[in-house]
Amino acid sequence: MAVQERANFGSKLGVILASAGSAVGLGNIWRFPCEVGENGGAAFILVYLICVVFLGVPVMVSEFLIGRHSRSNTATAYKILAPGTPWHFVGLMGVFSGFLILSYYIVVCGWTLEYAWTAASNGFSQVGDAMDYTAFFNNFVSNPWKPLLYLAVFMLITHYIVVRGVKEGIEKFSKVMMPMLLLIIGVLVVCSFSMPGSVKGLTFLLKPDFGKIDTGVVLSAMGQAFFSLSLGMGCLCTYASYFTKEVNLMKTAGSVVVIDTLVAVMSGFIIFPAVFSVPGLIPNAGPGLVFITLPNVFNIAFGNYPFLGYVFSVMFYVLLILSALTSTISMHEVATAYIHEKFKMTRAKGAFVVTSVCLSFGVLCSLSFGVLSDMTIAGFTLFDFFDYVSAKFLMPLGGMLISIFTGWYLDRKMVWEEITNEGRLRVPMFKFYIFLLKYVAPLAIGAIFVHELIKA
Ligand code: PFF
Repeated sequence: MAVQERANFGSKLGVILASAGSAVGLGNIWRFPCEVGENGGAAFILVYLICVVFLGVPVMVSEFLIGRHSRSNTATAYKILAPGTPWHFVGLMGVFSGFLILSYYIVVCGWTLEYAWTAASNGFSQVGDAMDYTAFFNNFVSNPWKPLLYLAVFMLITHYIVVRGVKEGIEKFSKVMMPMLLLIIGVLVVCSFSMPGSVKGLTFLLKPDFGKIDTGVVLSAMGQAFFSLSLGMGCLCTYASYFTKEVNLMKTAGSVVVIDTLVAVMSGFIIFPAVFSVPGLIPNAGPGLVFITLPNVFNIAFGNYPFLGYVFSVMFYVLLILSALTSTISMHEVATAYIHEKFKMTRAKGAFVVTSVCLSFGVLCSLSFGVLSDMTIAGFTLFDFFDYVSAKFLMPLGGMLISIFTGWYLDRKMVWEEITNEGRLRVPMFKFYIFLLKYVAPLAIGAIFVHELIKA
């Protein structure tokens, strides 16, 4: 199969910001604090960090090298590297996961728009006491129209950026949105540290209770690591197909992992001190943490300084929007690149197909909070089912297969050439990297899967 002529990212900074933009998302600011809250705080963070370093980094570098070497969408990449073998199913699974994740992720993205709007129009101050925030959230998500409208708006913005292309769309927007996002995070952390509950919040985040760690916690931490780093579904593989030969893959992976982890931990630093500042609020409020607990916090904790509360809340929800958008464009790109190249459609037409399919499933996921709440699969609502299947199953499975592919199948010389840029870079950890891919990642992921299966 001929290697195709295709677009490239224009600069190394663009590469890092676009990849970090994919990684940093609702997973860091919404999902990570929920998981930390539900799985006992610091102990979870510790397991999470171990998963990031020993599973996340090697899988990310593998995705990078598969993408850059094949210069192709994720499904075709495996056909180029392993012609005539079933390996391309790993790539197809990635495209499928992309559709699945975007379909439910976009629902929460829609919520961020409504919340940013409510914050900006000072709507939270009128909501009232804690119960009313729950009712506000429940009324909104179960409304058959409003969330759908926001979901569609978010999808169309994503569509617009993707259709503009790799350099003019994805890279340009990431270069504007990521610095804004990092700035907002910095300001919010400082604000949150100055709140009365900051010590309690920090203790919750930093003091591990090892008694809390069981396989359920490990599975959640691993799923969260893959989700947060956008791994196991060909997303970074697709982005890497736009990297030039000069990009240092190890260094880029290091930067992305550091940025992503810092943002996740900082989000904890923003949210938990704030939550502990209000007596009676609990940190394990699950998905409602950011949408129910926080508006309440903004209102009560800043009771004497309503303007500060206003600014804090608007900045927080703008932060959520920015982080979500840089991620939705990356998921969209996985499927768009595939359809565009596989079916020889224009990018615009490919993107149209992706947008239409994800909008349709997104609508169903959104309605699963209201009129379709009784429609369940294996006891999950559609939204929860999509989340469970992708984060706890498909992404780690994809990660495991990618490690086996790079560690056992790919020609070692080719892997070495990609990682060292044909010998121009010194990579002292190369052997350790291969060891992690060959043994540690597949066995660790496999063991956790088997344990969960036996338990079920
Ligand atoms: N990493 C994103 C987040 O933390 O929100 C989610 C994500 C983006 C998952 C892109 C998968 C993906 F391909």
